[in-house]
Amino acid sequence: MRETYYVTTPIYYVNDVPHIGHSYTTIAADVLARYFRAAGRDVRFLTGTDEHGIKIVKAAAERGMSPKELADEVVVHFQDLWADLNISYDDFIRTSEERHEKRVQAMVRHLVDRDEIYSGRYEGLYDESQEEFVTESVARDNDYKSHISGKPLVRYSEDAYFFRLGKWVPRLMEHVESHPEFILPAARRNEVLSKLRQGVDDLCISRASEKLGGWGIPMPNDPNHSVYVWIDALSNYYTALGWPDVGDAHDGDHTRYWPADVHLIGKDILWFHAVYWPCMLMALDRPLPRCIFAHGWWTSEGKRMQKTLGNFVSRETIASICREYSVDVYRYFLMRAMAFGADGDFSRTALRKRYNNELANNIGNLLNRTLNMIEQYFGGKVPIPASVGAQEQPVLDAAEHLRDGATKLMEVCACHTYLDKVMDLVSATNRYVDTTAPFKLAKDESQRERLGTILYTCVEAVRIVLMYLSPLMPDTMAAGLAQINWKAPPGRTIEELASWGQLPPGGQTQKGQPLFPRKL
Ligand code: MSP
Repeated sequence: MRETYYVTTPIYYVNDVPHIGHSYTTIAADVLARYFRAAGRDVRFLTGTDEHGIKIVKAAAERGMSPKELADEVVVHFQDLWADLNISYDDFIRTSEERHEKRVQAMVRHLVDRDEIYSGRYEGLYDESQEEFVTESVARDNDYKSHISGKPLVRYSEDAYFFRLGKWVPRLMEHVESHPEFILPAARRNEVLSKLRQGVDDLCISRASEKLGGWGIPMPNDPNHSVYVWIDALSNYYTALGWPDVGDAHDGDHTRYWPADVHLIGKDILWFHAVYWPCMLMALDRPLPRCIFAHGWWTSEGKRMQKTLGNFVSRETIASICREYSVDVYRYFLMRAMAFGADGDFSRTALRKRYNNELANNIGNLLNRTLNMIEQYFGGKVPIPASVGAQEQPVLDAAEHLRDGATKLMEVCACHTYLDKVMDLVSATNRYVDTTAPFKLAKDESQRERLGTILYTCVEAVRIVLMYLSPLMPDTMAAGLAQINWKAPPGRTIEELASWGQLPPGGQTQKGQPLFPRKL
């Protein structure tokens, strides 16, 4: 097994404050990071902000600020939200930082030296909201508007530098075809492949600096031009690890963490990640990331999120959900409510329903009734199990399936299937309580040993459930694990800790506040 795990989120534009979409990718990355830490890997989790480009320049001008002032103001909103949502990133990169700018220049310099870049003239259309060059035919198909924001495209005509993208496309296609997990989910991979088959032009990778008011990273071979913001932004995944070496304190980490295990992104930015970035890396003769995973988009209350529609899940909405439920419940809902990769809808009603059905009735209730019975029948001490039999088997099997599959599922970002397996164990245990009816056996003194086995089986299953839910709901699950008096021996992996029977009998349980009180 690999020792390290490197996961990244997109770096977010600082033209506007964060919303549910940003929180989704970041929470998913956090869940993966926490899982792999628990699995014993040396994890590096990177997030950050994308601060250059015309979009930021214009947003700053509209607010009468310099781009740097705007970035300094907005970056705090992202950092605060990540602190509120308990995001355990190891590094936060801002593209306006010197450590990044120097390395982007060194990288572009390598490309120039390798004759991967040539000068020419760009005459064509640009989508300023997506920071994307658009071909005439695509523009025509979309009525000369952005396919994402609907804003009119802008015509550019200027001298520029180009990257020989087309030259690398055959090799990229070969790589995509021979590495089925390079682009996930599979449907997205097929979309990329079919678009690649239609042929790809070279990529314009610079803008006249004056058009950006000097805000950007100067091309190392021509300071009158700035590096195209997507080239600048994509590089962050590698520059944050200190590549290329430029002789400062940040050199070095890349040998340990590169190539990235997964770049988590939204489906709208797949092409940049799945085509431009790998081709650049090939041109630089560097290894490619193992996986680029494109998740779907959230709608809200059945419609595309729009500030004017009043359905925008803003930072304030997120904060109010966290106040009403908890941060962990918000994290859980996002990861549970839509299959990772598909689109999904956010609504307060769906949130309440899932909260009550899954968290309060299934998980919280299982913990509560287990602790109640242990308290009532065994003075709160974890009972000693006798031999397990056919009735216990479905619970043990569900626990084993979960333990067996967890890492493989997380390696392909199948967080929803991972959660399904956790829920299978919860259901198997709830069914087990119903069929073995320990509250009836308790009335018969001769059944005391059997009663002990049943309650041990329940509390052990609960322990495993809580452990596997910890990457999603770290604080709440820690509270639950404390209630059953679980103290994980240090230095062991989740897989080791989740093998059946590790909860020592005799431990004093401590019924506390319900983890998920029912909401009306
Ligand atoms: N700066 C670029 C990324 C550069 S990465 C080298 C960017 N930034 S962004 O702030 O506009 O968007 C970041 C992410 O938010 C994208 O992955 C996008 O898919 C995601 N989302 C924006 N709206 C979303 C939803 N409604 N639902 C889910 N994710 C959404 O793009």
